[in-house]
Amino acid sequence: MILVPGPVELHPRVLKAMSEQVISHRSEKFSELLMKIVNDLSWAIGAENEAKIALLTGSGTLAVESMVYSLVNPGDSVLALEFGEFGKRLRESLESRGANVFTIKAPPGRTPEAGEIETIAKKIKPKYIATVHVETSTGTMINNLKDMSKLAEEFGAKLILDAVSSLGLEELYMNKWSINAIASCSQKGLGAPPGLSLVALSEEAVKRVCETTGKPSYLDLCKNLRFLEKRETPFTPAVNLMYGLAEALKLLREEGIEERWKRTKRLSELLYNMTEDIGFSPLAEETNRAHAVVALVPPNGFSATEIVKALRKKEIYIASGMGDLKDRILRIGIMGYVNESHIEKLVKEMAEIVGRKKIE
Ligand SMILES: Cc1ncc(COP(=O)(O)O)c(C=O)c1O
Repeated sequence: MILVPGPVELHPRVLKAMSEQVISHRSEKFSELLMKIVNDLSWAIGAENEAKIALLTGSGTLAVESMVYSLVNPGDSVLALEFGEFGKRLRESLESRGANVFTIKAPPGRTPEAGEIETIAKKIKPKYIATVHVETSTGTMINNLKDMSKLAEEFGAKLILDAVSSLGLEELYMNKWSINAIASCSQKGLGAPPGLSLVALSEEAVKRVCETTGKPSYLDLCKNLRFLEKRETPFTPAVNLMYGLAEALKLLREEGIEERWKRTKRLSELLYNMTEDIGFSPLAEETNRAHAVVALVPPNGFSATEIVKALRKKEIYIASGMGDLKDRILRIGIMGYVNESHIEKLVKEMAEIVGRKKIE
């Protein structure tokens, strides 16, 4: 049973779809596949076909770096929010692009305060506010993206988002919430194999990616969108992964995006509640707890890595913390085709490891 925060176990229909024969990426059949994926992604991201979607062959990091290198020019002022490992990587990517980055940090389990963001934004007048939506290293999420985007606009800034761990799992409306650009990947909330990623760009962002200069070809979203107009990708794409992604998106359409958000929320709440009964406590504050990734502090005296190892012996795979949190927290992904029975089985084993009877 795989319950790590991505990649997820694949649905049999996704596995079967990937076994189709390779096709040329300059064929009509390929164009149909590409446009189907792009339309479904546009729907999943709440872009209602108004945003342009660049589909990339490479993991989530490629999407985040393409978004940064294509939208930001060296010297641009950017306000970065950092509340975990992936926020740190986003900030480092902005710095390597040569942006003038001002960072607001928050400790594990918390997100930067709206008041502080407002004060700093007023002062530095950033071109962008850049943040991770669900911070996978701490199970913490920004729960007020809509307000943050409004705030950014008040100061003439645009909100750009790493939604690698949230797309398909947490409420997200690109258009309604006026998000300028969103980067995400195939292997988490979309339930597809790892190896593909995407950047969704608003109309305004589409113009900007064609105005920035000096970006490497593979990270150039303007180039990608020019090929998209011809219903192609600029470089050889991972066609078989695309078959898998197309089928995973079909499954998402069948379930319904809001239904999937609700399932993720329901299962994460079940897990938070059941594990509290056996002595675990959530790392994140209640208002910022993510549903896609649940981060738990074990009861006193128990090491997270030991618990992960003990679960592995039962063929249950979850993750421990990253960096300084390595031994302090467990991370469980509520991703893929998880249901109540997976959560109950996991908690039963966790209860046995810490020697507590689960309260029924
Ligand atoms: C929030 C977030 N951003 C970026 C990444 C990097 O994605 P990848 O490992 O697919 O390159 C991850 C990976 O887990 C992530 O959780």
